[in-house]
Amino acid sequence: MTTRLLPLAVFAALLVAGCGKKADAPATTAAAAASGPASAAPAAAAAAPAAAKPAAAPAAAPAPAAAAGRVIEITANDQMKFSLANIDAKAGEDLKVVFTNAGTLPKEAMGHNWVLLKAGVDVTAFATTAMTAKETDYVPASLKDQVIASTKVLGPKQTAEVSFKAPAAGTYTFICSFPGHYMIMKGTLTVK
Ligand code: CU
Repeated sequence: MTTRLLPLAVFAALLVAGCGKKADAPATTAAAAASGPASAAPAAAAAAPAAAKPAAAPAAAPAPAAAAGRVIEITANDQMKFSLANIDAKAGEDLKVVFTNAGTLPKEAMGHNWVLLKAGVDVTAFATTAMTAKETDYVPASLKDQVIASTKVLGPKQTAEVSFKAPAAGTYTFICSFPGHYMIMKGTLTVK
């Protein structure tokens, strides 16, 4: 029995040695295989969509289409420019101008308003008189009958709205009547 055991033991030792030597080489491939538990990834990905899906919040109620009229957004800036040079409208149409001062300069230095004048008004004469009407946002009380619609003077990032009916067909001038602005801050409402 013992005589047969020894050769077996030697053979086993050789086998182990051989294996040990061989084991060094494929280390990299083994590591690569170990780092690829690829099967785990799909499971995680599959779980994600369900978790990420937000509870379906009730959609915001549609804004009530009030009879406030078609909204026309106009901005003014520190470069004394209106964002619109012309507005088109139909006679009698309800309009709502939403006017924003998008600038950053102080109101005292770069305030803006939006003033729509009636047809035939002398714009220069109106603006000249308006310069002295700071208390009434540069819309002189004595010339109110020359105005179709106007906003107050806005400081930076302020917004004001004014609703009115488009007048009869024709062209009408709108200006900013803040002192010194009307020559640049001027546009036209074209009514058909
Ligand atoms: Cu202005």
